[in-house]
Amino acid sequence: MQISINPEQTAPSVTCFLLSPSDMGVSNLGDFPAHTVLAAAAQSRFRGNPGDVFETFVDGAGEGEAHRVILLGIGGEKRTKLKLEKAGAALTAKYLTSGVTDIRIVADTSPTKLDDAALASLLTGAYLRSWRMDRYHTTKPKEALPSLTTISLSGGGADLAPLWDEAHAIAQGVFLTRELVAEPANIIYPESFVDRCAHLAELGVEITVLDEDEMTKLGMGALLGVAQGSVRPPRLLVMRWKGAENDNGRPLVLVGKGVTFDTGGISIKPAAGMEAMKWDMGGAGAVAGAMKALAGRKAKADVIGICGLVENMPDGNAQRPGDVVTTMSGQTVEVINTDAEGRLVLCDALHWAQEEYKPEYVVNLATLTGAMIVALGHEHGGLFSNDDGLSTMLTDAGAEEGDPLWRMPLGAHYDKLIDSPIADIKNSGPRQAGSITAGQFLQRFIQKDVKWAHLDIAGMVWADKPGHVWGKGATGYGVRLLNRLVATHFEQD
Ligand code: BES
Ligand code: MN
Ligand code: ZN
Repeated sequence: MQISINPEQTAPSVTCFLLSPSDMGVSNLGDFPAHTVLAAAAQSRFRGNPGDVFETFVDGAGEGEAHRVILLGIGGEKRTKLKLEKAGAALTAKYLTSGVTDIRIVADTSPTKLDDAALASLLTGAYLRSWRMDRYHTTKPKEALPSLTTISLSGGGADLAPLWDEAHAIAQGVFLTRELVAEPANIIYPESFVDRCAHLAELGVEITVLDEDEMTKLGMGALLGVAQGSVRPPRLLVMRWKGAENDNGRPLVLVGKGVTFDTGGISIKPAAGMEAMKWDMGGAGAVAGAMKALAGRKAKADVIGICGLVENMPDGNAQRPGDVVTTMSGQTVEVINTDAEGRLVLCDALHWAQEEYKPEYVVNLATLTGAMIVALGHEHGGLFSNDDGLSTMLTDAGAEEGDPLWRMPLGAHYDKLIDSPIADIKNSGPRQAGSITAGQFLQRFIQKDVKWAHLDIAGMVWADKPGHVWGKGATGYGVRLLNRLVATHFEQD
């Protein structure tokens, strides 16, 4: 589905008006019988709130023709960006597979006139909600597949086109993330993940890939220990977007957990639900999507996105519980549980990133622990950080963009829980505080004076029921959060 702004003024086949609650008594809806339409809407409990959609048919231009008229609620006074996105998304959700092909939103003849920023938010919601994964359906009836090809908007102001261009670029990042997350693990594995990101080079992203030999030379024993049970070789994907020098001259570094499938390894997971572990690369997916968004809108900032890509499999060559591995940092790890693999991948990626780029700020994203879902459900990602300023920056960015975060504690008492009798650290602690001890593990690899945050997004990358701007499945969580972080705190004017 595409969005078209101020198209040629041909007569639309379906007309959509924007209404707030106070518009329910207006007497003018362009050429349409406002009294009847609004009375019908009121009887159907349409109130003009975001998420409300009403449709009716009125006499069409010719004999026996009917014209579909849609009323879209946009809410009253407190019309936030997220509420407008919800409104736009409701339009797409209702019509995507309805048989309707084109909808024209008439911004100027609607009772409530929205400014261009508000219209851009409405369109953002409509567009984000259109993404689906239909690639592998070959026998689904046409009626169950999308029919809606265009939502056009007429009557927007001069600022709308540039605002939409930016929103569209960010949405392309969200869509890349959703695609990487939704693809099964026989299709997306470390090498093919890299291939799917190769097109970022056309946007000006500088791409470097470390293979197994290079990682061996660097001494990434923890990451490689996870990878050794798989026939799919690991990769470290590095993407740099340098739209400008940052104020401090140091890049912002983003690091993502990219376990393209997590069986648990020798500490194997139960069969039921294991298919979900195809999205154990959601952190890496978010980093890749964020890089695409930043490059696509030519952000004036220097950002490096790093994806630690491995597959965690049981095998004759897989690592065993009790194995001791040496990380690139020199610290040794006792692998108590081969299913606590994400932290093993991240610790080497984080160490390498700090050595290589000397960042002031590092943010990592990972579907790291089931315990995070126990704690926060699917409403917030967990935020762990050594810096209050960075925590506020991230929490605010997430709230603004609909990727909410909730800060969790770190501390020395939790850290003790992962001391090992044989090595420097063990990779899993007791059952209690499972998400926090995972954070403590990562923190042991963060260098002095580096401001760091770990986002445990295990509950956020996949949705069993539709949200406002996503359907069931991959949400694209994290892309808009990271984009906002950069826009607000790292970009040059
Ligand atoms: N990828 C999982 C975490 C996960 C579980 C994400 C469910 C999303 C849904 C991670 O690698 C894992 O297996 N963690 C273990 C850690 C434990 C062994 C210390 C967990 O959460 O059980
Ligand atoms: Mn695991
Ligand atoms: Zn995992």
